[in-house]
Amino acid sequence: MLNTPHALLLVCLVGATDAFYKQWIPDTNYENKTNWDKGDVPCGSDRVQFSAQRKVSVFVETTHAVQEMQLPVDGELILNSGAGFYVVSGQDPSCGAGVRTKFKDSDSLQWFDPALWQAAATLNDLQQGNFLFSVHEESVPCQHDDVVFKALSSFRVDTHSSQSTIPVKSVSVLGETFDSRSEFSQYLSSRSGQLQFHGPSAVTVGNPSCGDPTGCDCGNSVNHQRICGSVTCASVSCKVPLLPMGHCCHVCGAIITISYAGGFNLQNYRGRIQSLFLTQPQYESIQLGMSKVLKPQRVLGVIPFGTSPEIQVVIVDGETGDLSEALAQDIIKDVQSHGSKLGITKAELQASTGNTSTPQSNAGMVVGVVFAVLLMIALVVILAVLIRKGMVQMPPMPSMPSLSFFRRNPNVGDHNGAAHRGFDNPMFDQPDALSDIPGLYESDSNTIALTRTGVYFINPVYDENESNFSV
Ligand SMILES: *[C@@H]1O[C@H](CO)[C@@H](O)[C@H](O)[C@H]1NC(C)=O
Ligand SMILES: *[C@@H]1O[C@H](CO)[C@@H](O)[C@H](O)[C@H]1NC(C)=O
Repeated sequence: MLNTPHALLLVCLVGATDAFYKQWIPDTNYENKTNWDKGDVPCGSDRVQFSAQRKVSVFVETTHAVQEMQLPVDGELILNSGAGFYVVSGQDPSCGAGVRTKFKDSDSLQWFDPALWQAAATLNDLQQGNFLFSVHEESVPCQHDDVVFKALSSFRVDTHSSQSTIPVKSVSVLGETFDSRSEFSQYLSSRSGQLQFHGPSAVTVGNPSCGDPTGCDCGNSVNHQRICGSVTCASVSCKVPLLPMGHCCHVCGAIITISYAGGFNLQNYRGRIQSLFLTQPQYESIQLGMSKVLKPQRVLGVIPFGTSPEIQVVIVDGETGDLSEALAQDIIKDVQSHGSKLGITKAELQASTGNTSTPQSNAGMVVGVVFAVLLMIALVVILAVLIRKGMVQMPPMPSMPSLSFFRRNPNVGDHNGAAHRGFDNPMFDQPDALSDIPGLYESDSNTIALTRTGVYFINPVYDENESNFSV
């Protein structure tokens, strides 16, 4: 049936934007009663006070009567057209006796607080309140997302970050969308910009949209600690609470980890799950988030070995996780029957009920990798021995670092860490990171020595006394 690959490819490319609109929830609007310490918008008998030292940008939508107003030293009132203030003499009968009311402080609101953002696939969905669920890291704007501060609204956001910039695709402020880096940095240096965005890191726009049909990594894992610092986890009551990648809290539900091949399209697959399953009435209460994550790989479960991209599907139901598991089983069945057509090569399920399915266990893969590495080392050693014994002539080779690694070096005998041969591994730069793992660190072990800054192998083949090694 699918014999129109070109047309299909075109559709895939057009639908390849894996990005969302992320809208900042709080505002610093005069008309929002949550911004006033008395819990109400001031009226004609009230005396209004803005803290003198607080910087704030306040949006005023309509006209207000006040008794008196104290303004901050450094701040601004953005007046909507037709908005303004007038002073009433004496009491406003509709307002009562009048109180002194203070505008609340919004300095502490952090960009990297996941509770302060809502996400949607389109601007329309954002307006209609069709918000999407995602793990905490992805609740905050990702590097390819469009950031929206509500029109007819002002705000104040603290941009403390682990990095000097916070890259996003675009930012909309007061109804104006910025997607040019220079224009936005100009806005940031304006008076409004400085009052709205404070903190040492700069939000930068103009990041390209995600061009990979299989999805893009959010990019917020560098700020994981900061993000989770503002999250309070609810207690969970299921058999096996799960911790999805990029999330700060354990959840009851199910996680499907999908490995994919070239033909996979994340956007289309999201649409498929939505229309096949999430529209079913029994799954109404389910929240599902699907994204590409970079899973760290480790050899022997210890040594970091790069990352591998995977699609993580997180399903939660706010209860025991049974419903999530039922949906997850449905999704797995769909993968089993249509996976190859969708570009899915493997799907693994973890459920809070304790049910797991691991078609090819990870342990198997790690053993495979380790075996391959050992085999390679053995081959190199044999080759080196043959060269040493003059049985094989080595053609001149300008750069072969793996061989120099096995060349005999007088320093290698020094187990105590003076020599730094072998590859540098950032994991061991942390003092004592491994010192509490028994067996690995013992300096009298003859095969592998780990120091705080290096890893090297001492190969008995090169021991002078055992040079009668033969092949
Ligand atoms: C008022 O502010 C609160 C919290 O900042 C926000 O949740 C709410 O949506 C705002 N109200 C309106 C009408 O925008
Ligand atoms: C675990 O899976 C089996 C078969 O897939 C199913 O029959 C059983 O109900 C599941 N257990 C729970 C607690 O959901």
